[in-house]
Amino acid sequence: MREFEGRTAVITGGASGIGLAFAHLFGRNGCRIMLADIESTALDSAVEGLRKAGIAAFGEIADVAEPASVERLAARTFDRFGKVHLLFNNAGVSITGPTWRMSPDDWRWVWDVNVWGVVNGIRAFLPAMMAHGEEAHVINTGSLASFFGNGDHAPYCSSKAAVLGISQSLYSEMKAMKTRVGVTIVCPGMVATRIHQSWRNRPDADRPWSDREYADLAFREGSEAFQGAGLSPDVIAEATLDAVRNDRFYSFSGDRWPFFIRGALEPTLRGDNPPVATWGEDRRSEQERAPAPWAAAASGA
Ligand SMILES: NC(=O)c1ccc[n+]([C@@H]2O[C@H](COP(=O)([O-])OP(=O)(O)OC[C@H]3O[C@@H](n4cnc5c(N)ncnc54)[C@H](O)[C@@H]3O)[C@@H](O)[C@H]2O)c1
Repeated sequence: MREFEGRTAVITGGASGIGLAFAHLFGRNGCRIMLADIESTALDSAVEGLRKAGIAAFGEIADVAEPASVERLAARTFDRFGKVHLLFNNAGVSITGPTWRMSPDDWRWVWDVNVWGVVNGIRAFLPAMMAHGEEAHVINTGSLASFFGNGDHAPYCSSKAAVLGISQSLYSEMKAMKTRVGVTIVCPGMVATRIHQSWRNRPDADRPWSDREYADLAFREGSEAFQGAGLSPDVIAEATLDAVRNDRFYSFSGDRWPFFIRGALEPTLRGDNPPVATWGEDRRSEQERAPAPWAAAASGA
């Protein structure tokens, strides 16, 4: 897709981090922006910031995990702009901790936002994007974790592997049908955003959580420094604009991604075991070996 002037971009999870960087960059390139997010205060200030920068931006509260909420977002977007040309299925959340301690709610939350959010976006917007016949593009935010399951990150890595599968299927469908809709998956490594504070948008009804980030203040402080050392979201946005403009499926950024992909896939090609990668080995504690908090709560303990 080469022309952005006057085109409409819908961005989920647009109030922060990578989504907000997409909004500023595609807005500066002439797009009209529909910013969608679950966090209302952050959404209002993000829209205000975009408008101050001279970008035509509107905000809608939407929960990507809820099909009805995304359909409402689509209806409002079509009412306001008529057509949608760029769909960024970007909203995502993360949780860390040992696989065996994740509660059903932990799994459901991450999969509802990261996987169903993408499916709900495609179902609500894509038919109209195909029908108008102008150049259009679907951009799904995956991760380098789409290619590899790190220890202490099972719900997240598995959800991002699903985003890769969905995106590759959709790419083949769009090409085989000779539509004018391109597909890109954004695969960042570590980016300096608020993803490590994903719990801020978690439904209260899910408590108690087995997420170590929530349970352990020291871990939260550690993750602050870790996340802050990542790439700037602007770098991810620039790489993605280039991928969309040149109809490339993968949007990688920085210079470490080939090292990571090679490390993940070369052992596989040899039939070797995967490398051991975990965030938590040095942090295994008595607390983690004890029954998970959600299990204790469920048994009334
Ligand atoms: N930061 C990283 O290191 C990194 C790396 C790879 C991929 N990603 C992916 O990038 C995407 C954007 O995350 P980010 O890093 O900018 O984090 P972020 O927390 O700064 O932004 C995520 C946005 O999504 C919104 N959101 C959360 N749940 C939502 C819901 N149910 N419905 C609508 N909006 C919701 C949040 O309010 C927030 O504005 C995610 O898909 C994430 O998995 C991030």
